[in-house]
Amino acid sequence: MIQKIDTIKKMQAISDKLRAENKIIACVPTMGYLHEGHLSLISKAREKADIVVTTLFVNPTQFGPNDDYEKYPRNVEADTKNAEKAGCDYLFVPNVDEMYSKNFQTTIHLSEITRKFEGEFRPGHFDGVATVVAKLFNAVKPHFAVFGRKDYQQTLVIKQMVKDLNIDVDIIVVNTVREKDGLAKSSRNVYLDADSREKATILFRTLKSAERMLLNGERKRFLINKEMENILNSIEDLKIDYAAAALSDNLAEPDEFSDNDEIVLLIAAKLGNTRLIDNLIVKI
Ligand code: PAJ
Repeated sequence: MIQKIDTIKKMQAISDKLRAENKIIACVPTMGYLHEGHLSLISKAREKADIVVTTLFVNPTQFGPNDDYEKYPRNVEADTKNAEKAGCDYLFVPNVDEMYSKNFQTTIHLSEITRKFEGEFRPGHFDGVATVVAKLFNAVKPHFAVFGRKDYQQTLVIKQMVKDLNIDVDIIVVNTVREKDGLAKSSRNVYLDADSREKATILFRTLKSAERMLLNGERKRFLINKEMENILNSIEDLKIDYAAAALSDNLAEPDEFSDNDEIVLLIAAKLGNTRLIDNLIVKI
């Protein structure tokens, strides 16, 4: 039976005991409303760990004032069942007061890696993410943690933080799980009405088109970006935040890519009120 833990102290005591028994602990941080993307992270954790802890916390500090914190979808009951089915042992579900006491004062800020893309369009977002992930790691005390490539820049931020702060947690990244038509699974997909849901497939189609350009030998970054913008702009009521090719390890944007580069194609766009992000790694 999966066990729900709602205080940091209890979670830490359980982890201390498990560690004393030489158990390998995995942590899967989530904001809940679990879908097959999240469940694939739990399955990956299950393969490699003795104990899998999924954290379920809609973190207010990573949402901007105009973001969807209040209406972010929540369903702890369904999450509990699904997490258990995927092989999760503990669900860590603290409330906001447990995570952020009245006198909370500390923020983790990363510089370079948060400047562009999500960091530019969601100021403060990665401060919230880095801080809450560090707190979750200190509560769960895992040996490793699993994240999804769906949030590509987030994986770079977490890896950088762990390195910079000597956090003794290995970071594993799992591929993006998609719907049959290519749309990346996301808790936010429930916001899409039938028309927008149809249009949302344009993100993946755009990524694949830019990938083809790269694989066919195009190396000029602005042409690849232009191609992505053109395709996305064919959809009425879609607003691009960014559609960009960058080097996958540090998000640098050279004028021309070189053979053997690993490139990440990144898109963020709003369809009506719903903001969608997706990305694709291309090795040339
Ligand atoms: P959330 O959006 O709930 O995502 C939790 C984890 O699931 C992240 O690592 C994310 O990349 C992964 N994920 C989401 N959709 C996926 C998909 N279609 N395929 C594979 N993995 C997918 O990301 C967050 O929460 C938060 O920022 C968090 C790290 C929990 C900090 O609050």
